[in-house]
Parts: sequence; structure tokens; C-alpha cells
Amino acid sequence: MKHWTLDQIAWDSFDPSKVDPEIVPLVKAAALVEKNGVDYAVYLNNVFVGDPDFSRAADNWAVEEVQHGDALGKWGEIADPGWSFDEAFRRYREGYKIDVKADASIRGSRTGELIARCMVETGTSSYYTALGDSTEEPVLRQVCRLIAADEYRHFKLFYDHMKRYLAREKLSFPKRLRVAAGRIGESEDDELAFAYHCGNETPDTPYSHDRCITGYMGRAMGFYRFRHIERGMGMIFKSIGLEPRGRLSDMAAKGAWKLLQWRREKYRQTLIRVANENAPARAAA
Ligand SMILES: [Fe+2]
Ligand SMILES: [Fe+2]
Repeated sequence: MKHWTLDQIAWDSFDPSKVDPEIVPLVKAAALVEKNGVDYAVYLNNVFVGDPDFSRAADNWAVEEVQHGDALGKWGEIADPGWSFDEAFRRYREGYKIDVKADASIRGSRTGELIARCMVETGTSSYYTALGDSTEEPVLRQVCRLIAADEYRHFKLFYDHMKRYLAREKLSFPKRLRVAAGRIGESEDDELAFAYHCGNETPDTPYSHDRCITGYMGRAMGFYRFRHIERGMGMIFKSIGLEPRGRLSDMAAKGAWKLLQWRREKYRQTLIRVANENAPARAAA
């Protein structure tokens, strides 16, 4: 299947008047995480040793993730001409490393590993759909739509391999649920927070997980609409073997939407408080 290229993007249509300043730091951070995808392919190749079909798919997948990083990074440089994607990525690589040498999945089984990958692709698919739907800037809209379509394909790719392993490994429902919930919980770990730091803060600013995850989530959560959560919940349900469009999924989506709104409010309050605390210091400087 022909994959898109950076040349297909209408970079000349960039419209600075349509750039929402709240979205720029998110795009910069996401660019770094995406570009780092190549490390995950090494890890996946180690975990799935002896499965050449999957290894080939993982290598292809990583090429696409790196391209997501390049497209978002290029947009970040256009939106903020003083910003260097290469420099930010160098800092990110230096400070954030995943253990690629694992010879078994950190999720306990190959099925579990693939469920965790499904969670990541559910998250990215929903996220880029949400960003693409919210932004008025035509280039970012095009980039986000292309990426969101890839992320959904990635979800299907990992899902299909997961079904193959599930038939063999027969991972129980509670275990599948635990892996899925565990991976969702990790979205607030260092991977994104540190990318936010490298993408948006000067090298002499000490890294703080709390400050950076607040900076990231306080902005990111504002771009979701209920339909994005509803669709994402369907994908989560499908991954763990539950009916994706039933009453239970509907209830879970409503619950997740309430939780997201509550957390977004908490993060935003913190962002406002920090901005106010820093305001007198800036005025005095
Ligand atoms: Fe991606
Ligand atoms: Fe992906």
C-alpha cells in the first residue's frame, strides 16, 4: 500500500493567523515521541523474535511513526521559526531511553504486548482526530488527518496480530483488562511529559514531571469532544474482547468523558495558578 510522503503536504498553505498558540507546544512534544518510534521497533523485534511476519510489520510501522514525527516537527518549525526540531529531538534522545534489549514483553506475554500497542494506537488515533477537528490551520489539519488515518490502521494491524496470539496463548479476560488499564495509566508517565519539556522549555530549566504533564494535559484535554472518547472507548472494548458498541461501552464512554472533564479542569486550574505565581516575578524582572 502506498504510504503518504511529506511532499504531499501543502506546506505553502500555512496560515499563521489560524494557529492556536495552545496547540503549538502539543505538536512539538508529539513530534518527539513519534520520531522516537524507531526504538520501539527494536524492542518489538526482540520481543517477537521468530515471527518474521510481525517483525516486517513492526519495521514498516516504525517508518510511519518516524514520518509522523517529521511532519509534526516540520509544522512546529514553521509555526515557531525559532524552534529547532533536531535540537529538541537530540535532547529527548539523550534523556529518555526505553529498554530495547528486552527478550520478553514487559506486559508478560505477546498477547499482552499487542493489547498495550492497541491502547497506544487508540490514544494516538483519537488524539490526532481531536487535534485535526479542532484546528483551523489548514496544514496542521491535513497533517493530523493523515496521521490519524495511519494510527487507526496501526490499531487494526496490532489488533489482528493480537487475535492470532490470543488463540494460542489464551490470555484470560482479567489479564487483558489489566494490561489495557495499565497501559492507559502510563500515558501520564515521563514519555510525554519529558517530550513536553524538551520541546518547549530551555535546556537550563530543570525537568519537572508534574509541571510538564500539567502543561501537556492541561492543553491536550481541551481538544477532545465526546465523540472522540466514545470512538476510543469502542476501540478499547474491542481490544479486550468486549462488545465495542453496546450499553457497557456507552456507559464507560460517558464515565471517561466525565473523568476527562474533571481532570482537565484540575490541570487548567494548576496552569492558571502557576501563570499567576510567575506573573509578579516577570513584571519585576
Ligand atoms: Fe504516530
Ligand atoms: Fe501509530
